[in-house]
Amino acid sequence: MMNRRVFLSSALGGLGLGGLGALVEESSKLSIERVVASIPRLKTGLEGLRIAALSDFHLYPFTPLSFLKRAVEAANSLRPDLTVLLGDFVDQTLEAMDELGPLLGTLNAKLGVFAVLGNHDHRKGACRVEERLASEGIKVLSNRSVLLEWGNARLHLAGVDSISGRFDLRSALSGSREDTPTLLLAHEPDVADAALRDGRVSMQLSGHSHGGQIRVPGLGHYGLPLGARKYPFGSYQLEGLFLHTSRGLGTTGAPIRLGSTPEVSEVLLVAKKDLPMPA
Ligand SMILES: [Fe+2]
Repeated sequence: MMNRRVFLSSALGGLGLGGLGALVEESSKLSIERVVASIPRLKTGLEGLRIAALSDFHLYPFTPLSFLKRAVEAANSLRPDLTVLLGDFVDQTLEAMDELGPLLGTLNAKLGVFAVLGNHDHRKGACRVEERLASEGIKVLSNRSVLLEWGNARLHLAGVDSISGRFDLRSALSGSREDTPTLLLAHEPDVADAALRDGRVSMQLSGHSHGGQIRVPGLGHYGLPLGARKYPFGSYQLEGLFLHTSRGLGTTGAPIRLGSTPEVSEVLLVAKKDLPMPA
C-alpha cells in the first residue's frame, strides 16, 4: 500500500502553484448531494420525508466559519423535515464551538435537529461539544434514541457514539422495534457491518472519511481513517440496510481537497418495493 508521502508527491508533483490553488479552491466549493434512500420496512406515511445531513465541520484552522455558514444556509434552503449532524464539529480548538454552536443553532427542520459526536470531538472534549450543541436546542444522541412521529407514521432515530468514544450500539438501539424503521446516525460508516448483524437498522447516515479528502483516479486516496475504509463515500444498498457516507464539509491536516467536493446531503426516503411492506 502506497504511503502518504509517496502518494502526495505522486499526486501533487508537477501541479505547481496554479494546481495547488485549484486544490484549495475545491475545499471551498459546496455540492448538494441528492440521495434517494430506498428503505425496507418504510411505512407509507414516511415516504417523501426529506433529511438534510451535514458532517465533519472541523471549524478552524483550515475550515473557516464563513464556509460553514454557506453550508447551513444551503441546508435550511432545502426546507428539510429533519436535520442531522454527523460529528467532528471541532478540529484543533475546542473554543471553536463558541462560534460554531450559535451558527448551528440557526438550522431548522420540522422534526428538529439531532447530532452524534465524532472522533475529533472526543479528542478535544466531548462534554463541552455536547453541552454547546444542547444549549442551541440540538439533541445529541450518544448511544440513545428518540421516537419521531410524522403524521400517523413513526421513525426511530438512534445515534451511536464514535468508536473513539463510548461506542455502544446495543444501548443506541435498545428502543428499536421490529414494526418501526430505525435510522442510525453514526460518525464512522463501517459501523454498518455491526448494524447489519443486529438487523434492526433500516438506514444509516455517516461521515468521517471526507471522501478520502484527496482522491486521484489510479492512485486512490490520500488517507482513509479507521472506521471508513470499507464504505468511504456515497450510497450503499446493503442487505436490508441503506447507507450513505457523506464527504463532509471541512478539511483536516491541510485546507485542500481533490476529487472530493464538500457535501450537504439531501436524503429523500422512499419505500424499497421488493420487500413486503409492514402491516
Ligand atoms: Fe472528520
